[in-house]
Amino acid sequence: MRTPTRGTFKSQFLLPAGLLVVAVMASFAMFIPGADAGASGRADATQVSTSATHVTTRACGTINLKGVTNSTRNAGNPFNSSNRFCLNGHLISYGSRAITYANPPQSFISAGQLLFAQTCSSCHGNDANGVNPDGTATIGPNLQGVGAATVDFWVSTGRMPATDVKAVEAERKASRLTPLQALELAAWVNSLDPSVPAVPYPHLATADQSAGQDLFSLNCAACHTIEGSGDALAFGTNAPSLQNRSVTAQQVVEAMRTGPANMPRFSGNLTDAQVADIVSYVTGRLQHPDNAGGVGLGGVGPVAEGFVALLIGVGGLVLICFWIGERS
Ligand code: HEC
Ligand code: HEC
Repeated sequence: MRTPTRGTFKSQFLLPAGLLVVAVMASFAMFIPGADAGASGRADATQVSTSATHVTTRACGTINLKGVTNSTRNAGNPFNSSNRFCLNGHLISYGSRAITYANPPQSFISAGQLLFAQTCSSCHGNDANGVNPDGTATIGPNLQGVGAATVDFWVSTGRMPATDVKAVEAERKASRLTPLQALELAAWVNSLDPSVPAVPYPHLATADQSAGQDLFSLNCAACHTIEGSGDALAFGTNAPSLQNRSVTAQQVVEAMRTGPANMPRFSGNLTDAQVADIVSYVTGRLQHPDNAGGVGLGGVGPVAEGFVALLIGVGGLVLICFWIGERS
């Protein structure tokens, strides 16, 4: 549960159920003649045309690849993924053993359209294109082509719908909408200009926390600090604390693969396996430090902890010496 307000009994089951439907549809895709069930390694026989930003294939339809800046295998690019499922011209899912990226089911689109009209269109336009009916620009940016993961991230972290439009940075807050509603919105927005990344589902069973810690120091600590406690950045923005346990594994992948606001997008330089390592570290040791060997002392680290032990230990001995001296 990301926030207490969202843990309804229903939404707990709708998300796994939706995924199950996606998986079942994906397995059926293998039996449909002509549908490319994502064989890896070989040239895409169904590929029809490619432009700088779009790839059109018979099996997957037209997909905006704006967000994919690399050709690294399994780094968020559906066309380089070791498993990819398309059905009737729709990209259903893709990814690797470390992360599955899945688009919300088509059946979510109409609910998402209604919800968008009620909650988002005032700031993003009726067509989510950043244009008001009178042709002027809306307060919020164009959302077409951002991919389902971007919408799911901004809604599930409570950043959207925005409350303070003058804020430099939309802050994380308890989400007003359920996880299902976030996926419905993602389904509709994505249907306007199908794009990647789709919503990620990380598989952390084989992820390596220690490797993740090293990658975190290298790629994330500059802004979020080595402890992950967050820090102020330039121009009144800040990198939020990742010790916050309501930041879910899925949101950590979404942040890395979409690059919200001032955060860079990590697509080419980190493979799915490396992303999963970082996620397992963030949702593991970083959010749940076991403070081995003693109290946390505010998580200032082992050196300072040793120093405090020295101070109390030696200080205590000095006091005992004085006490013995007094007596004699
Ligand atoms: C009060 C105005 C307002 C409302 C309502 C609103 N937004 Fe936004 N939205 C913004 C602004 C302003 C930004 C840019 C914020 C920033 O960059 O920090 C934004 C940014 C976004 C982004 C990030 C876009 C990107 O390319 O990074 C997404 C996604 C988004 N909004 C989705 C939604 C959805 C979905 C809803 C409805 C649930 C919604 N917004 C409601 C004003 C609004
Ligand atoms: C250049 C600075 C910078 C770097 C490097 C950076 N981030 Fe961020 N990160 C940010 C900022 C700024 C935000 C807040 C964006 C917003 O509010 O829209 C953020 C937000 C996040 C969030 C969302 C947290 C929340 O409370 O919703 C996560 C998760 C995250 N970052 C993880 C990472 C990880 C993991 C890495 C390393 C792979 C990383 N970041 C690297 C600046 C950075």
